[in-house]
Amino acid sequence: MEIPAAAQAVLSRLPKGVARRLEGVLDKLPFVGDLVRAEKKKVSDSMRESVRKHRPTELQFDALPQAGLPQAQVLETLRTLSARESPMWRDGRVSGGVYHGDAEHLRFLDEVYSLYSQANPLHADVWPSVARFEADLVAFTSKLMGGDAKLEDDERVVCGTLSSGGTESIMLAMKAYRDLGREQRGIKHGNIVAPMSAHPAFDKAAHTMNVELRRVPVDADGRANVAAMKAAVDGSTLVMVGSAVSFPHGVVDPIEALSDFAREKGIGFHTDACLGGFILAFAREAGFSAPRFDFSLPGVTSMSADTHKFGYSAKGTSVVLYRGRALRRHQYFTTPEWPGGLYVTPGFAGSRPGALIAMAWATMVTIGHEGYVKHTRAVLETAREIRRGIEGIPALRIVGDPLWVIAFTSESVDVYRVLDEMAKLGWSLNGLQHPAAVHLCVTLRHTQPGVAEKFIADLRTSVDAVRGTPPPKDGMAPVYGLASSLPFKGMVSDLLCAYVDALYDA
Ligand SMILES: Cc1ncc(COP(=O)(O)O)c(C=O)c1O
Repeated sequence: MEIPAAAQAVLSRLPKGVARRLEGVLDKLPFVGDLVRAEKKKVSDSMRESVRKHRPTELQFDALPQAGLPQAQVLETLRTLSARESPMWRDGRVSGGVYHGDAEHLRFLDEVYSLYSQANPLHADVWPSVARFEADLVAFTSKLMGGDAKLEDDERVVCGTLSSGGTESIMLAMKAYRDLGREQRGIKHGNIVAPMSAHPAFDKAAHTMNVELRRVPVDADGRANVAAMKAAVDGSTLVMVGSAVSFPHGVVDPIEALSDFAREKGIGFHTDACLGGFILAFAREAGFSAPRFDFSLPGVTSMSADTHKFGYSAKGTSVVLYRGRALRRHQYFTTPEWPGGLYVTPGFAGSRPGALIAMAWATMVTIGHEGYVKHTRAVLETAREIRRGIEGIPALRIVGDPLWVIAFTSESVDVYRVLDEMAKLGWSLNGLQHPAAVHLCVTLRHTQPGVAEKFIADLRTSVDAVRGTPPPKDGMAPVYGLASSLPFKGMVSDLLCAYVDALYDA
């Protein structure tokens, strides 16, 4: 199904509703509809097949086994599966994913988990220690992110809560702004102004919260364009957003200029430091320069920073912070009339895993400030070495001026095919689009001896391999090719959903 580039450009600029209707009309046309359906089926069949091929076959069931299996048998199988899957991340071949992963640290975390496996902070009376761990995590993070006001200063104190991850932290902050906007400014249909590079969690938040997300194009270096961001703000803007650092290109948006503007306008400013907070907070002490991004800037009114990324704990925790208790109050949810009792939760979840909170707390207090500085130095030094290595490959060009999430593109080779060649050599990197690029998020896993050198050597091999061979039929290159050739983003969404279907149904 080939659609000329000029037509694609026009179609892709159609408003969402019009595009969806047009797509619906096309779908009903006898010949075109059949063609579209056949193409979609071909792609979803091949995704299903690819998922099936990679699925482990040990202990497969059609339904819950009638009689329970012996624990020893299940444990043995889990050991086999885990041993098969761990070399890839353990040996430092995954972009992001596992941020610490050192064996001794993991053993320690496992022990902490086992002590708190039943804990649930919904019952603060039963597990008061978990409630304290949460308060400590928020206080530690607040101080690291520039919060310096006294606890009794309701308006200036940087306070917050824990959440299940970056996405939940962002969604909670956006809910707080929506509800504050409704209450204080009478805004019924508010909007969020964010750069194109901001994480999809903002789309999810806007969609769920029924507010508009205004995505603003970024500059060629991947950073938010201040003038364009300012122009997108109007009387219904609830909050502006900047990333420190952005997921795609690992760059810090001009947070100072953006948050100053937000302050002038009397609106909120959220720094998404999910990925960058726990590196940038220590960068200067580690000997690297880093722009200001946190509550030391008076216009920053909320932040998200993930303890489960460069905070080095296990997956499942993040910190969301607010300047002032009033804003945080709009995050909470209360149900005072419920027959089940007086009910209040700080976030979206009801019951929560206390063990993950205990692990995050235990991680932070055992690593300590000095440990974070040391880890930050290791990550940034390794990233600098990798960046220099990439700059030494003439076919590749680094996007922007990144610190440790390093994106590269190419004018002379298909960078998605480089991604596929790297996958053949055992690397799991991230494909990016607009422009077509690939990134590596450097973690402590890559600071192990020899990993940076191997990455660069394999990258050279992959670029060379792409040059002399015809395009393959499988891998990510054809998928990204198809995604960019589809005229309606709804069709790309359908394919993405088909992929999730395949994961659950295969
Ligand atoms: C900048 C940024 N924000 C938010 C998120 C979302 O975090 P999570 O995957 O924990 O929900 C990510 C994840 O990579 C991120 O890089």
